[in-house]
Amino acid sequence: MSRLHRKKEHVEFALKTPQSTVGNGFSDIYLVYEALPELNLEQVDTSLDFLNKKLKAPLLINAMTGGHPEVKYINRSLARVAARAGIAMAIGSQTAGLEDSKVRDTYRVARDENPDGILLANVSALSSPDMVKEAIEMIEADGVQLHLNVAQELAMAEGDRNFRGTLANIQKIVSLSKVPVIIKEVGFGLSRETIKKIYDVGVRYIDVSGQGGTDFIRIEYLRSGRDYREKFQNVGISTAISLVESLSMDLPIVVVASGGFTGESDVACALALGAKLVGMAGHFLRIVTEGSEQCLNERVDIIIEDLRHTMLMVGAANLRELTEKPLVITGKTAEWLLRRGIDIDRYSYLRQAGKR
Ligand SMILES: Cc1cc2nc3c(=O)[nH]c(=O)nc-3n(C[C@H](O)[C@H](O)[C@H](O)COP(=O)(O)O)c2cc1C
Repeated sequence: MSRLHRKKEHVEFALKTPQSTVGNGFSDIYLVYEALPELNLEQVDTSLDFLNKKLKAPLLINAMTGGHPEVKYINRSLARVAARAGIAMAIGSQTAGLEDSKVRDTYRVARDENPDGILLANVSALSSPDMVKEAIEMIEADGVQLHLNVAQELAMAEGDRNFRGTLANIQKIVSLSKVPVIIKEVGFGLSRETIKKIYDVGVRYIDVSGQGGTDFIRIEYLRSGRDYREKFQNVGISTAISLVESLSMDLPIVVVASGGFTGESDVACALALGAKLVGMAGHFLRIVTEGSEQCLNERVDIIIEDLRHTMLMVGAANLRELTEKPLVITGKTAEWLLRRGIDIDRYSYLRQAGKR
């Protein structure tokens, strides 16, 4: 199976595969309603600074595709949506483009359609520093995502089996990269233990990409025609848990929340916990491929408007104020976090200025 075909199949099988049934943990998290917000909706501002640019809203179209002529239109549409809405975007793993110059335009289209926007490059954390540099230059990236995907590689019949040396490689890349390096998972989450290791080698940006949305173990089993039977469900870390684990460490890191978001009040909850951006992949892919670019424009507008309404309902005029509002963590998520020694009551009352 060539990498070229794999890129096309990932899109096809992601669309055929139902989202994970375990949930991303946000049904356990509640914002506390404020019936006296003393705000005008017109004042509610979702804008922020990120990687030296301005975003109109704290959303990221997360890494998905590129690398095959038949997926170029997806990156074109996603980039146009990102440009119009003023949100960030990452492209899919660029290894296919590094190996074959003929498919570079399937990635480059994202920059051509959004010359001034925030665009993130994406390669494996095992890539050489030269490959990372080339991937950044390919799209004039504002930052680079290095993905960790052990669970996916093991599930992939043709996947990697040797993950030794990844941390040392990340350290080398961080020391040489001219743009910020963001370490991300692809749907199984980052634990406090993992975050501590990558922080210690100089990483300051992470994307937890937790469990509860796109399920790559399932996609890889289906793609190779193997029987799946809900395997490995107890190994991944839900997005909500992974987000709180990362923030509870009080490290000076920027955290992106992704994994299983569908643009409901889960977005506001993640931002209130302290995520800088909320990333969505599978949800946006479905809308743009099964619907159209226009459908995705409309969906993104609704998500931003719903976020503004939620902010007003908790009395937050901007994203910093949202991180000061009380929220309550319940259920399985609370139980996990307590057993891991994390103080979840710190979120339950009006908080000091958030660490955005
Ligand atoms: C079709 C598809 C392809 C993906 N390809 C990549 C990739 O190349 N690199 C990467 O870091 N993540 C990739 N991802 C993972 C997403 O960026 C994201 O981390 C994951 O899907 C969880 O988010 P979601 O539940 O919103 O989809 C891909 C996801 C999908 C749906």
